[in-house]
Amino acid sequence: MNIGIFDSGIGGMTLLHQALVMLPNESYIFYADTDNAPYGTKSREQVIVLVDRVMQFMTEHDCKAVVIACNTATAAAAEIMRQKYLMPIIGIEPAVKPAIKESHGRRVIVAATPLTVREEKLQNLVRRVDDTHLVDLLALPRLVEFAERGEFVSDEVEQYLRTAFLPYALEDYAELVLGCTHFNYFKDTLRKILPENVHMIDGSEGTVRQLIHVLESNKQLENSIGKVRYFSSGRELKGEQELAYIRQLHERLEKMRKL
Ligand code: DGL
Repeated sequence: MNIGIFDSGIGGMTLLHQALVMLPNESYIFYADTDNAPYGTKSREQVIVLVDRVMQFMTEHDCKAVVIACNTATAAAAEIMRQKYLMPIIGIEPAVKPAIKESHGRRVIVAATPLTVREEKLQNLVRRVDDTHLVDLLALPRLVEFAERGEFVSDEVEQYLRTAFLPYALEDYAELVLGCTHFNYFKDTLRKILPENVHMIDGSEGTVRQLIHVLESNKQLENSIGKVRYFSSGRELKGEQELAYIRQLHERLEKMRKL
């Protein structure tokens, strides 16, 4: 059986990439809802409808578990989907708790999409773990647009990020939480503009660990020759050019993973 992984777009490949490292002997269905990206600037209601459609697709494609590789979709729709579908649903969330732990009393920026920042799920999480008010939330919607058009390193990207961080006294910060899976593609530019005291953290490793835990408890871990099928809003990507682009994205993510 397959593990379904989905996002509004190519951001979810961050999670897939990590899953292939930690769980190489599984088969994956990767679904990017590119026709409807971005999710982060939509309403909660719109995202619920879109996520439901992807979940239907996953049930029709022999998935034993689904990973919502999109912080926005997790915030808006994970609970509702868990009530509707029987298979385990694991959702990525901004790594706020580990970031606070690592920050040792210094400040933390949680960067995410506008919808994630607005959603109660994140606000509740911050309220629960941030007793001393160390966390600032920052929406970076344009990074999703840049990523979707394959613009990962450019003057425009750098300028956008420099402007976004201008209001923060970065010497007081210890952690930047990448609370949107698209943001991992920009770790090199972020590294360039952030001072050394600011460390980057994201939720993909923790989410894959949770996936492993769920599969282990359900005795569903497999030992097959892992393969991945890629879908873009329901259409399977099979063309030489499309698959070459996917390979390029994996190469970029491998570089970013090591930063
Ligand atoms: N990659 C998604 C996330 O982690 C959202 C991007 C979007 O569609 O706005 O939140």
